[in-house]
Amino acid sequence: MSLFTSPKTITISGAAGQLCYSLLFRLAAGDLFGPQQPVELRLLDLPQAQTALRGVVMEIEDCAFPLVQNIVMTDDPAVAFDDADVVFLVGSRPRSKGMERRDLMSANAEIFKIQGQALNEKAKRDCRVLVVGNPANTNASILIRNAPDFDPRQVSSMIRLDHNRALTQLSRKARCQVGEIDRLIVWGNHSPTMFADWSYSRLDGKALSDVILDKSWYCEVFIPEVARRGTAVIETRGASSAASAANAAIDQMRDWLNGTRGRWTSMAVASEGHYDVPEGLICGFPVICENGSFRIIEGLKLDDFQQVMLARTVAELVEERDAVR
Ligand code: NAD
Ligand code: LMR
Repeated sequence: MSLFTSPKTITISGAAGQLCYSLLFRLAAGDLFGPQQPVELRLLDLPQAQTALRGVVMEIEDCAFPLVQNIVMTDDPAVAFDDADVVFLVGSRPRSKGMERRDLMSANAEIFKIQGQALNEKAKRDCRVLVVGNPANTNASILIRNAPDFDPRQVSSMIRLDHNRALTQLSRKARCQVGEIDRLIVWGNHSPTMFADWSYSRLDGKALSDVILDKSWYCEVFIPEVARRGTAVIETRGASSAASAANAAIDQMRDWLNGTRGRWTSMAVASEGHYDVPEGLICGFPVICENGSFRIIEGLKLDDFQQVMLARTVAELVEERDAVR
C-alpha cells in the first residue's frame, strides 16, 4: 500500500446496529476495496445510539486495521454523505417475530426521505448507494425520489442475500459447488413474493433443470424456502440475519464496483421498463456488472409460470409504492 493512496470514504448508516457489527469489521479489513486501499469510515446513527457506536469504534480501533485511516461518528446525514465514495444504508427498524418487512414501511419512509435529501445535496455524483434497511426496495425508491439530482443508476437495493441463499440450496440439491452455478435470477421484491428463478441456470454448460430433475422440489420447496428464509432465520435465531446480510452487502457492492466477468448476478435496481416492470420501480433483475456499472440482461423469454411469478412480486412493489405515496 502506498502512503500516498488517498482513502475511499465508506458511509454506513445504522452503524451501531447488529448487521453493522459484522459489516464494519469486514469493510475495515479490506473486504470491499482490497488490501491496498485505505478507507475512511463514516458511521451514521441516531443521537441515542452514539454511546453504543462509540463502543463499536473502540473495538475497531483495538483491531489496529492497517487500512483504516480515519473514523467519523455522526448523527447528521449531511456529514455522513459528504464526498462519500460508497454508501451502505442499513439504518432502519428491523422486524421482529410476526411482522412482515412491509410492516416497517411508515417507520422507515421518513428516514429514507431525509437521507435522500442529504444525498442529493452532499454526495459525489458517482457515489454508489446500496439500500439494505427494509423494506429495502421501497426505501430505495423513496431515497431516489428525494434525490432528484442523483442518477437513479447509482442506487440499488439488496437482493443478493436472496441470491446467495438460492445458490446454496441449488448447489446442495445438485451436489456441486456454489461457484459452478451461473445464470440464477432473483426477481422482484425482497419479500415473500420474490421469485428465485432457475430457468436459465447452468452447471458445467448444462441446464440446471436437466441436472435436478425434481420439478416439484423447485416449485414447492426451493422457491418458497428462499422466499421465507429471512423469516426462518428470525424464528430460529431470535433476531434478523446479520452476518449473512453483511456478507451479501459486500458481495453486491464489490461486484458492482469490480464487475462480474460476464457472469450473471441479481441486483434490485430502478426499472427502465424491462420485462414490463413499471419504470422507476426498484426490482430484482438479472444483471452483468462491468466498468463500475450494471447492465440488465435483456430479451429473456418468460414462460407462463415465470410471467405469473414476476407479475405477483411486481404487483406487491406497486402496492408498496402507492401506499407510501
Ligand atoms: P438493528 O436494530 O440492530 O440496527 C438498526 C440501527 O439503525 C440501530 O443502531 C438504529 O439506531 C439505527 N437507525 C435507526 N434509524 C436510523 C436513522 N434514521 N439513521 C441512522 N441510523 C438509524 O437492526 P439490524 O439487524 O442491524 O438491521 C438493520 C436493517 O437491515 C433492518 O431494516 C433489517 O430488516 C435490514 N436487513 C435487510 C436485509 C436485506 O436482505 N435487505 C437483510 C438483513 C437485515
Ligand atoms: C432477511 O431476509 O434476512 C432480512 O430481510 C431480515 C428480514 O426481516 O427478513
